[in-house]
Amino acid sequence: MVTVDDHHTRPATSSTVTLHVNGTPHTQTTDHRTTVLDLLREHLGLTGTKKGCDHGQCGACTVLVEGRRANSCLLFAVAHDGAHVTTVEGLGEGERRHPLQDAFVERDAFQCGYCTPGQLCSAVGVLAEAAAGHPSHVTPPPGAGEPRPEGAPVPLTRAEIRERMSGNICRCGAYPHIVEAIEEMGDVAGGMDGGARNTDGARGVPGNPSGVPEEATR
Ligand code: FES
Ligand code: FES
Repeated sequence: MVTVDDHHTRPATSSTVTLHVNGTPHTQTTDHRTTVLDLLREHLGLTGTKKGCDHGQCGACTVLVEGRRANSCLLFAVAHDGAHVTTVEGLGEGERRHPLQDAFVERDAFQCGYCTPGQLCSAVGVLAEAAAGHPSHVTPPPGAGEPRPEGAPVPLTRAEIRERMSGNICRCGAYPHIVEAIEEMGDVAGGMDGGARNTDGARGVPGNPSGVPEEATR
């Protein structure tokens, strides 16, 4: 007979994990069913990351994991022990906003703002993906139209932005201005000076054209 209350015979239901969130390590003992989204919001108090559908369909919960965007509602925290996570709270530097956040403000790229943290994290990921030459479904194949060497940065046209951001839903329909804000950043990132904004307001962070926080890629 199995003794259900004999803890020696029952599989563990919780584990201790460490997530490096916005550059700070956080160690938590957490139930195996806890998602990264719930760990961020309910355990660490980082409520910038939003829960929309909780089913991987709206993008409100998008964060960067090791510099790549991911729906945090679909990630079990226990499976990401040691991972580096960047949330919307970590996109800027201290009180200084990420240049994409400035672009969203300047372009009026939100209404209620519920989707905005996910849009921002996703767009930062898009800029990095395009800069690294990752094609999307609408990227012309090599040899079609304008020749683009293998691995060369992908120009962020409006079609590219719409395709790459299609996993982030905005109930307010702020899409035109979201696309404009990302397009502006893509233009700058594709130019000479990088894409992030210096303390004096000028664009450019040498060596970091996407503006992905460096700690996210460590
Ligand atoms: S809350 Fe994660 S995709 Fe909707
Ligand atoms: S600004 Fe309201 S959901 Fe996008």
